[in-house]
Amino acid sequence: MTPPPAAPPAPPGPATCRTAVVRAVGTCLPAPVVGNDEVIALGGLDTSHEWITSRTGIHRRRYAPPGTSTGDLAVAAGRAALDAAPGTPRPGLVLLATTTPDRPCPATAPDVAHRLGLGTVPAFDLSAVCSGFLYGLVTATALLRADVCRSVLLVAAETYTTIIDPYDRDTAPLFGDGAAAVLLRGGGSDEPGAVLATDWGSDGSGGDLVAIAAGGSRAPRSGSPPGRDDTYFRMRGRPVYAHAVRRMTASARTALDATGWKADDVRAFIGHQANQRILDAVADRLGIAPAHRYGNIADVGNTAAASVPLALAAALEGPGPPTSGAATLLTAFGGGLTWASATLRWPAVRPNTAPAPRA
Ligand code: UT7
Repeated sequence: MTPPPAAPPAPPGPATCRTAVVRAVGTCLPAPVVGNDEVIALGGLDTSHEWITSRTGIHRRRYAPPGTSTGDLAVAAGRAALDAAPGTPRPGLVLLATTTPDRPCPATAPDVAHRLGLGTVPAFDLSAVCSGFLYGLVTATALLRADVCRSVLLVAAETYTTIIDPYDRDTAPLFGDGAAAVLLRGGGSDEPGAVLATDWGSDGSGGDLVAIAAGGSRAPRSGSPPGRDDTYFRMRGRPVYAHAVRRMTASARTALDATGWKADDVRAFIGHQANQRILDAVADRLGIAPAHRYGNIADVGNTAAASVPLALAAALEGPGPPTSGAATLLTAFGGGLTWASATLRWPAVRPNTAPAPRA
């Protein structure tokens, strides 16, 4: 029998140290698949399938059935991740990255932890919009390196359908719902799934570019002008586009430099799935070959905090996933403005998919 081909040598990286290691991935996508024509019909939008696909790469997205909350999706994805790694120490922390918590107060994470049967584990929400998962990964990595806990359940979940104005063509075609969870444990930086270097940043001077104007302490209740409900999510696409390309490129370069990798070493590039043209611009600027770019924007659209881990899960499921241990680069950009990147070794896990929640 011919032996299987040997795995390529592990890419260079920092000396072995303790870090966060991806031990399991769980996902939950709502069942209803909503195509571009349906979104257009729903809001009577002055746009077309051709415009949306050619300008964004989005063909369809998932919408959570009415009554399904972010917490519901988070619990399903979290349970799928926990079930996939029975031997891993019980999480010592639950982190939920989301823009769409179940309620303004309290945080949704403690309820998710409770519903997962994790007892009195610490749990908190993390608000960094589309950078939420990577902000969570940076936080979890630091806590695992410092031995504050032995494992962390990092969940990223969104129900953007609860904050999107269906009549707004600037945002309605872009976003979808979904959740993904990653179970991290402390381990060696030479293991598949090990996080090697991270970078993160913010620029509050661009805070109005991606925002919900009302519902916070600055404007507790809506004072909407007619026809423009200020409790909805709004985005000024063109300037956000420019910031996204610039910040993700620079942040990814910082993470690569800190790892001692060149763009040529990268075998798996996954960026925030907001716009295929942005993803191509970032990868082109970095010099990452098309064969090494992974994404699922056509099928799920922009799922904000959940975008990077859902794309990771889709790539893990194939076809043709990178070799276990391969040099991986993740990067994201979102409201705040916020951005973050991480390098890691491609995880040796199979994502566990939760059944779609019932209406
Ligand atoms: O997830 C957080 C981070 N978010 C992002 O990274 C998203 C960043 N922004 C984008 O992805 C893009 O800016 C959009 C997809 C939102 C818009 O694409 P664009 O190529 O930047 O379009 P644009 O805003 O520059 O507008 C070009 C034209 C305009 O018409 P004129 O002024 O050239 O006559 C717009 O009015 O396209 C028009 N337009 C549309 N036309 C049909 C804008 N939105 C639409 C639409 N359908 N949905």
